[in-house]
Amino acid sequence: MLKNRPIVFFDSGVGGLPYLRLAQERLPSESFIYVCDSKNFPYGTKSAEELCSLILMTNQRIVDCFNPKAVVVACNTASVVALGALREAFDIPFIGVVPAVKPAVEKAGGKRIAVIATQQTTENDYLRALIHDFAPENHVLTIGANFLVDLVENHLFSSTSEERIKKMQLVIDQLRAEEIDTIVLACTHFILLESDFRQALGPLVKIIDSRDGVVRQLIRVLENHSLLVLNKDPVKEMWLTLVKESHKYKLFAEKFDLDYRGGF
Ligand code: DGL
Repeated sequence: MLKNRPIVFFDSGVGGLPYLRLAQERLPSESFIYVCDSKNFPYGTKSAEELCSLILMTNQRIVDCFNPKAVVVACNTASVVALGALREAFDIPFIGVVPAVKPAVEKAGGKRIAVIATQQTTENDYLRALIHDFAPENHVLTIGANFLVDLVENHLFSSTSEERIKKMQLVIDQLRAEEIDTIVLACTHFILLESDFRQALGPLVKIIDSRDGVVRQLIRVLENHSLLVLNKDPVKEMWLTLVKESHKYKLFAEKFDLDYRGGF
């Protein structure tokens, strides 16, 4: 049946998992497939042109293999670089993630804001426009921190919080030096470092991300297309575009309550 098709979330790796978790909480009867584009990890260090064509190829495979009813681009880098091209290439809805600059100003009341993302995202015009439109009177610092993507993807479960905070020190020092009151986690991977940021920065700095807005948008899109469904036995699977380090991905799948399925 048309509606019973799964919703796919994809990212270069494990960054989109916190988005999927919230979507599952709010849509418990939907089938979800999580795709780590392990073949093309990391995204943030590639040129926009190369990345766009790789993401289009990955999504052709996703569409051919899983026949999803919607795809969530659970990656800021992929969203700023390829969302338009994906919408043009395929006739299913694509939901992107957007750096939460607007909520940081309007909901959190941030005055001195830091947007922490991949280099690719910090250099993109889309982020510049967001800051121009929603934070014109704020002090906004953008920090490109590709090295934190590797920290999450490859060392999250094999490190202590103390060790991770040490690796994050450069960023933490910058946030302190600029007296930042609100940080926007604009790389999905960084949400998995939220408790480390909290520990390092203390209770007063606000930490914002786009999970709520993205999942609300997903629900809106499914409603508008009459695609919401009540599956009795919804699927919850994780797949890779290239099988490597399966132990690591199996661990993430377990923590996020997904069935690990390997490559496709
Ligand atoms: N998780 C991705 C993002 O939100 C970036 C990860 C990568 O560079 O591969 O930007």
